[in-house]
Formats: sequence, structure tokens, C-alpha cells
Amino acid sequence: MKIWVPSLDVAGVLRDLPEVECVVYDGTGAMPGGADEVEVWVPPLVTVPDVPGVLAGMKKLRLLQTVTAGVEPYRPYLPSGVILCNARGVHDAGTAEWAVGAMIAVLREFPEFAAAQRAEKWAYHHTGVLADAKVLIIGYGSIGAALERRLDGFEVEVVRVARAAREMAGPQGTPVRVHGEDELPALLPAADVVVLLVPATAATAGMVDAAFLARMKDGALLVNAARGSVVDTGALVAELTTGRLRAALDVVDPEPLPPGHPLWSAPGVFITPHVAGSTPASLRRSLKLVRSQLLRYMAGEPLNNVITGSY
Ligand code: GLV
Repeated sequence: MKIWVPSLDVAGVLRDLPEVECVVYDGTGAMPGGADEVEVWVPPLVTVPDVPGVLAGMKKLRLLQTVTAGVEPYRPYLPSGVILCNARGVHDAGTAEWAVGAMIAVLREFPEFAAAQRAEKWAYHHTGVLADAKVLIIGYGSIGAALERRLDGFEVEVVRVARAAREMAGPQGTPVRVHGEDELPALLPAADVVVLLVPATAATAGMVDAAFLARMKDGALLVNAARGSVVDTGALVAELTTGRLRAALDVVDPEPLPPGHPLWSAPGVFITPHVAGSTPASLRRSLKLVRSQLLRYMAGEPLNNVITGSY
């Protein structure tokens, strides 16, 4: 069985499976030959340049297992009959950690102090703080729950929002309420920090528009660890320019953000280049996931994280 894998690390964890022939395609350089014999494709973390072209050549493809939580680069081009599985859980630790780090960095003004340090300036002043903040997590799934667990020691109030309202077991096992997205207009004005963790779908494209931003409290912080397409970049730049809001962004639209784009120099924005899940922690978890999914696939057992419907 021929499998395209994104790295030698992934090939390494499948090495003991005699029926598996791994070919490494990391998305850079020329595409390997033999796409028409590939039965399983594990694409790299950073999307390859021509997904529709690659998929069109994979006539025998049966399973596409991503190492990302997001599957939006593949879904529109998936040939019928091919199973798509995401990497739910793989990036919980890395992304939740990034979100906590980013909110603390912006609220405690670390980027400004780093600039002052480079200028050898003792820039003493009071800053904001995470303690006592109300943190709204929009797109409360496995990364959101990981974020809530990490925020547990910071003396904040977490408010959870998902597509539909529900009750679920919270970090302490006691039932907690998850609000529905339809409640956002009432929830936004009270939040000090708004964290985006929703998947990129037709329903979430441009969800954070001028009206959404206008409902956010003066001085609030928008944290985007979801996808750039969720936020209307022009509306965000306009709001940041007034100095009313701040933003910590791991994802932007467009991506990569080109030199000279107004978002780079908007006041109060802290940008990282889509790195929340690019850590050894995610790599270790993705290796475990790929191996266990492959073993299930070869045994004819049900796969985990199968994407269906409006995931
Ligand atoms: C990273 O952005 C992911 O979708 O896992």
C-alpha cells in the first residue's frame, strides 16, 4: 500500500509495517511520481501548493489523514468515496499554550517592553493584566477545553460559545454551560478577551465583521488562533486604527501577510506567522495519531476524527 507522508518522522513511525510503502512529499520541490498509486495521503502541516491538482492525480486514494485540525484546503476537492480525517487533539496543547501566551504578552505589553529593551529604555508604566478578565472562547471544542484548563490558575471567568448551546462536563467534572453563537451579540460587550477557535467554513467566513467588532468592549483584546478568513481584515484594521481594540493574531487574511500590508503596522496588534501548532508537542501527537489511524485503517476498524457534514 502506497502512502504519501509529510516527513521522514512520519515514515519512521510506519517503518515496521511491511505492507506500507512510504513516499515523503513535504510540499516543497517537485511532486514525487506515482500519485496514481497512492491509497493514503498524509499532507504536511503547511498546505501544499496545488491541492486540487494533487488530488486529481490520486486515482486510488481511499484515506486523507491530515496533521492539522483544519481541513478546509481539502474538503472542497475531496473525490467521492475518500475518507477525510482531521487531527483533532494533536494541536490542543500547542494552540492553547499559544493563546495563553499571546493574551499575556499583549495585556502585559511584552512586545512594547521588548522594543524598549532594544532601544535601552527603562519604560516604566502600569499595564493591563489577565487576572479578573472575562474570557470568551468562541468555537469551544477540544482546543477550547484545553485552553480553559490552562486558564484555570489565572483567576479569570471563562465563557464558552459553540455553534449550538449545550451543557457539558467542565474541567472539574461539574456541568458547565456552553452558549450558542446566537447569544454572541449579548455576550460580546462584556468580554475583556475574545478568543476565536472556530473552524474555517462557509458559516464562519467573515464572522468577525465591523458589527461584531463594534460590539466588543472598549480596550478588549481579540485573539485569533482559528483562521484568518474568520475575520474581516479591513474592518479589524479600521477598528485597531482607532485604538479602541487590540489583537493577537496567529492567523491572518491574507496569509502570508505581504510586506507593506496595513495590518503589520496597525496599533495594538501582535502577529505571529501561524505557528501555534508548529512545535515538537504537536509533532509527537501527530506521529501517534497517524500510526494509530493507519493501524485501524489496515485492520478495517472504524477511524477516528472522520469529517462529515458541517463539522
Ligand atoms: C493548524 O492551523 C491546524 O489546523 O491544525
